[in-house]
Amino acid sequence: MTRILIVNPSHPEPEPIAAAATCLRVGGLVAFPTETVYGLGVSALDAAAVRRLFAAKGRPSNDPLIVHVADVEHLAALAAVRPPVVDALAARFWPGPLTLVLPRSPLVPDDVTGGLDTVAIRVPAHPVAQALLRAAAIPVAAPSANLFSRPSPTQAAHVLDDLDGRIDLVLDGGPTQVGVESTVLDLSGEVPTVLRPGAVTLALLRPLLPDVRMRGQDGGAQEALRSPGLLTRHYSPRAPLTLYEGPSAVVLRRIADDIRVAQAAGRRVGVLLGDDDELPAWRVVRPALGRSGDAGAIAARLYAALRELDAAGVDEILARALPELDGLGPAIGDRLRRAAAGRIVRCG
Ligand code: TXA
Ligand code: MG
Repeated sequence: MTRILIVNPSHPEPEPIAAAATCLRVGGLVAFPTETVYGLGVSALDAAAVRRLFAAKGRPSNDPLIVHVADVEHLAALAAVRPPVVDALAARFWPGPLTLVLPRSPLVPDDVTGGLDTVAIRVPAHPVAQALLRAAAIPVAAPSANLFSRPSPTQAAHVLDDLDGRIDLVLDGGPTQVGVESTVLDLSGEVPTVLRPGAVTLALLRPLLPDVRMRGQDGGAQEALRSPGLLTRHYSPRAPLTLYEGPSAVVLRRIADDIRVAQAAGRRVGVLLGDDDELPAWRVVRPALGRSGDAGAIAARLYAALRELDAAGVDEILARALPELDGLGPAIGDRLRRAAAGRIVRCG
């Protein structure tokens, strides 16, 4: 049985927080909202509980977890090395959607890091996550609270769709704000490298880290090894998703053509487009996504839209790659390309 406790997202009540904190302290699995997506938390110091978490998610055990703490003071116990820039990054971006990868201390179990010599650490900003971490007073390992390879959950209902009966408790604090996972910044190598783009963009990091770069700019093989989770199919709806890149007018015409072909073959089609994109095609499932120029709105809606397409039982999904938007644009592009798993059509 999975317990569901409703909690006020801006002023969390002490009772549900205390119940969830106790559950974590005795090795339970607790889903909770962060400002990015819902996390599935477990005591990071309890190796047996961490193994139960991998089993509940169906996640391969070599895919390392992010350790969540209430503030930067807790970093000393988890990281063996603290480069000077960490304090500036923490002052600027914590609490918030930034995860730092650092050489790990011996305190962190192998089960958390997938045997890597580094550990990922994040200080989430969501008041419920903050209250929970303070009440539990232990570091909390938390991947996104979805079944492996499903889109990350941005509402408690998504968590229950995937994990009802497999976890102990869900703190339901309503929808999350950012909608895509935190920026993962690797500080363990020679060049600071963003392994996963998120709301803390390269442009925001550059004033503090002039040489920061995005993963994959020198072949990517090394980064793939450093972050095994980035190798696998992720963020995916059940129906195959094809991503169409190019100028919007050309892309929309091509999508309309391909819809007619699929429908003629009796297939049920879903689309993922900006709300203002005009599509000359009918009888498609089209969840709201936000206006095509509004990266913040699209990021907040993206995973819910993918889940709505699955719930509608579509056979395939045709998505428009939104032109490089500011801010969350690269993060949205990254998640759409992963969901497409190589099915990319370049138009025009
Ligand atoms: O926004 C988020 O980061 C959410 C919320 C719950 O905090 N969490 C999240 O966790 O997205 P998860 O497990 O779904 O993704 C963690 C990512 C994976 O791509 C993993 O490979 C990478 O972080 N990661 C974790 N530890 C790492 C390490 N030591 N070195 C490199 N990458 C690491
Ligand atoms: Mg995940």
